[in-house]
Amino acid sequence: MDSESLPWWKKTVVYQIYPRSYMDSTGNGIGDLKGIISKLDYIKDLGVETIWFSPFFKSPTDKPYKEHDCGYDISDYRDINPEYGTMDDVDELIKGIHSRGMKIVLDMVMNHTSIEHPWFQKSRSSKDNPRRDWYIWRDGKKPNGKKPPNNWRPMIFLGGAWKYDESTEQWYYHCFLPFQPDLNYRNPEVQKEMLDTVRFWLKKGADGFRLDIFNALFEDAEFRDAPFTFTIANGDMDLLFKSSKMTLNHPDTLEFCKKLRKTLDEYPGKFMVGEVGASLATLKKYLGEVVEDGTNTNGLNVIFDLRSTSTPMKAKKFKKLIESYERWFPEPFFPTWVFGNHDQVRRISKIDNDIEQAKLNAALQLTARGMPYIYYGEEIGMRNAKIHKSESKDAVSHHFKIIPQFIRNFITRFGVSLNRDECRTPMQWNSAENAGFSPPGAETWLSVNNTSEENNVEVEEKDPESLLNCYKRFLKVRKETTALNSGSINFIEIKKSPKSLLAYERKAIVNNKEDKAFVFLNFSRKNIRFHNPLKNPKVLVSTSIKTEPLDNAQIVLMPWEGIVLIE
Ligand code: NOJ
Repeated sequence: MDSESLPWWKKTVVYQIYPRSYMDSTGNGIGDLKGIISKLDYIKDLGVETIWFSPFFKSPTDKPYKEHDCGYDISDYRDINPEYGTMDDVDELIKGIHSRGMKIVLDMVMNHTSIEHPWFQKSRSSKDNPRRDWYIWRDGKKPNGKKPPNNWRPMIFLGGAWKYDESTEQWYYHCFLPFQPDLNYRNPEVQKEMLDTVRFWLKKGADGFRLDIFNALFEDAEFRDAPFTFTIANGDMDLLFKSSKMTLNHPDTLEFCKKLRKTLDEYPGKFMVGEVGASLATLKKYLGEVVEDGTNTNGLNVIFDLRSTSTPMKAKKFKKLIESYERWFPEPFFPTWVFGNHDQVRRISKIDNDIEQAKLNAALQLTARGMPYIYYGEEIGMRNAKIHKSESKDAVSHHFKIIPQFIRNFITRFGVSLNRDECRTPMQWNSAENAGFSPPGAETWLSVNNTSEENNVEVEEKDPESLLNCYKRFLKVRKETTALNSGSINFIEIKKSPKSLLAYERKAIVNNKEDKAFVFLNFSRKNIRFHNPLKNPKVLVSTSIKTEPLDNAQIVLMPWEGIVLIE
């Protein structure tokens, strides 16, 4: 397909903002919408086109931290958390984004609400309240109902998936934490309400949605026990010898996905990206079928996949990942390139906190075929913080309170953290106290990371070799080069090339002409040289501004260097 005719979202780069941590305009230590609005020029200048916001909807963040999920437990889908601002601020935000030629993606947490949502309050009030069936209520096991209805595990695997409610002596199901009761999607009223909520935000100007734990919407209608499996963990999220078959990736979720897509398509030019944890074969099912004109019209547009977050910095490993993405997501589908989000250990801390490796990582992310997701602060190399469990705010960290600190420290070495505060610290804007996030003297909701003096936007903007400027160079070139933002990908095989080299060609058709770019990435701490397969190559961009001048016979790459060439 000619790249000119592709929808905007097939070429875009997404920047994720965690509203609580981006910019505090009031000095109360908590990020807010006005703060974000004041930084839109920075985001525009960075060179991304789409901003995804973690939820800023009404949510009980005024309760103690361990009793809420910082926005992922919504108490009103059509209102704004007063801590972050007002609906007028959202309108201004949308206007500010659109007037800069950018797009806005909202986070739809459809699977569950907060226990504080008036729907749940009514639902739990009595068995015959009209909202009762909006949630999943069951009697406990006989004889006295004090045992959960079945053996289901929550997605978060520790603890049960059912919570007993004294007032009506029944149990409600929660796929995540107990204060996040699951909505009952088998009730048509729930479906209608959520589809209308989607319409509400589309009308307001949302350009797309990120769908939180989308694979958890439907469960087994008969509430059968989860079968035993031999797996401790697998791609489809079977956990600790229990299959997730009854609770995740249910076929009825795929059916609902079609309705959701139809609703989305009532407003042309929008897209949705679903957070789905599953094997690639299962993920593929969410994308629907391809119709005659070569597009998919009845599934998700793209799936947010976390495999890249744990891929080691090795050419062979990324080659394998690209190969499997190409196998499962060929045109018109495409993968995502995600290296961090508000749940994951920051990527740079998984790669030795090394800026040069982070630049190469960015080069791969912005040149491989797919939709890149940059988590706020990733562009300046913000590190994962070290926060002791006794100081954690994150409800997940509290949920795992029995797990001692030394075990937490140990598993963090393998890129897993039980305290998500560590990747949510305030954005580092400058070297001032509170890093420019809050005014000096304010108490920020999480402490600013101790690297903020050298590791911040102001310092890095001035340094041509900074990670920030590397991101900017690659983002600019990606935007200007059709081959990079929407072309196909094929590996370049070079005889006797070093093992640490990953080389691929991107190719697009623009107005019936071929547009090509050639990417060479050195996944090692040594210089490498290899045969130059191109005629008269020119450097389009490099991770370093000191890249070796090109020689027609050989290409030389410095340690961890990544370059893009054109002929
Ligand atoms: C996935 C989100 O990314 C995470 O932050 C949240 O806690 C859970 N879903 C529950 O909504």
